Amino acid sequence: MTAFYPVFLDLRGRRAVVIGGGAAAEQKVRGLIAAGAHVTLVSPDVTPALTDLGRRGEIELRRRGYHDGDLAGAWLAIAAVNRTVNAAVWAEAERLGVPLNAVDDLEHSSFIAPAIHREGDITVAVSTGGKSPALAVRLRQRIARLVGRAEARLCALLGELRPELAARVPDARARTALWYAIVDSDVIDFVRRGDIEGARGRIEELIGPHPLSPSPFGRGGTVSLVGAGPGDPGLITAKGLELLRSADVVVYDRLVSHALLAQAPAEAERILRGTDQEDVNALLIKRAREGLNVVRLKGGDPFVFGRGAEECAALRAAGVPYQVVPGVTSATGVPAAAGIPVTHRGVASAFAVVAGHECEGPSDLDWEALARVPTLVVLMGLSALPDIVARLRAQGAAPDTPVAVIASGTLPEQRTVVGSLGDIADLVAGAGLEPPATVVIGEVVRVGLTHPVGELVSRA
Ligand SMILES: C[S@@+](CC[C@H](N)C(=O)[O-])C[C@H]1O[C@@H](n2cnc3c(N)ncnc32)[C@H](O)[C@@H]1O
Repeated sequence: MTAFYPVFLDLRGRRAVVIGGGAAAEQKVRGLIAAGAHVTLVSPDVTPALTDLGRRGEIELRRRGYHDGDLAGAWLAIAAVNRTVNAAVWAEAERLGVPLNAVDDLEHSSFIAPAIHREGDITVAVSTGGKSPALAVRLRQRIARLVGRAEARLCALLGELRPELAARVPDARARTALWYAIVDSDVIDFVRRGDIEGARGRIEELIGPHPLSPSPFGRGGTVSLVGAGPGDPGLITAKGLELLRSADVVVYDRLVSHALLAQAPAEAERILRGTDQEDVNALLIKRAREGLNVVRLKGGDPFVFGRGAEECAALRAAGVPYQVVPGVTSATGVPAAAGIPVTHRGVASAFAVVAGHECEGPSDLDWEALARVPTLVVLMGLSALPDIVARLRAQGAAPDTPVAVIASGTLPEQRTVVGSLGDIADLVAGAGLEPPATVVIGEVVRVGLTHPVGELVSRA
């Protein structure tokens, strides 16, 4: 493995020589011009754009083949020809001590050019050690989704505040802790909304004394309640993922996938918590008061049968700052994964989401009204399925009303059993479906069967 040493070069006013005149050379030339280099290009054939740059005097164009001596006075060189010419350029570059990048030719390169994502003053460079430029480009594109205009604006704002903060907080360690508190906070949300004054105000609050903080500058932690989505790790929101990737502590539920947990930093503490709500609340408050950024990762959406609001109430009472990042709820995400829309024009213009365990024993719900809702989605309803069917039938629902039960929705092991109110309980018992499962009752199930999504809808 070649361990390249990553650097950012200041090329302003320095001479860069490019050997070659094709598309790769053109792309390199554009990057060099953008960095302020004086570019000399050597090639008998050049692209129309390079010809134009030469005509406008933006580069010095030598329309001939490479000769030993072309690198004289060069600070940096790029060869984009073939291995024979690259080898000759390499010999001269080594002799003169000029760093050389030969495009797609590691053997003749003393440096490689990373895939770059630039947003304002932020530059992210991705290198695969020359092994796969295509992978580097794809990774850069993913990073580009995380580092956008808001981050660039935040960077500009923080740069502006740097001298002031240095004066106000002279202790370097204290200042570093404060910078982390600022960048880990919700200041970015103000910037995203275009509220720069709000962002300044929030930074001012963070600089000022904080009632919870054990530190002299008032750094308190925060809790983010993040919806993880129904199971497929790709269904978390971009914002949820961003928070997860910078968490100090992740407190997660049983239904959260390991692939998603792997997105948290390696050093982050991962804590599985069950249904003892007092215990969860106490843990969140304790860790936040230690100044840590806690991500409370919950299956689906935190506010849909997720006790999210109870956790918010406890955090509010304890004075711990928190935010809620919604997630894709299994109530809509799981039917979708089986090809079933919960509404459909001309078929169902309303849907209700019901907690199935409400149906075991006496229920507070108005089943007469629920029987008239075109689509019923039942969560936590696998064991209570016979009771649910009985209640709906008692309210006059037709036995041939379609029903789908989807277990482990959105995951590779997803299984769907389709039937009717008349036979679904027996079909599900026979198929041995395991929780978690979502039940969909209504004509929309038939829509799903007419437009199946790949192989997702099946009779188990
Ligand atoms: C305690 S509730 C939490 C719901 C979650 N907050 C949401 O918005 O999806 C758990 C129930 O969600 C449903 N569920 C969660 N993940 C599921 C999955 N991958 N497939 C099917 N149903 C799922 C099941 O009905 C399960 O019993």
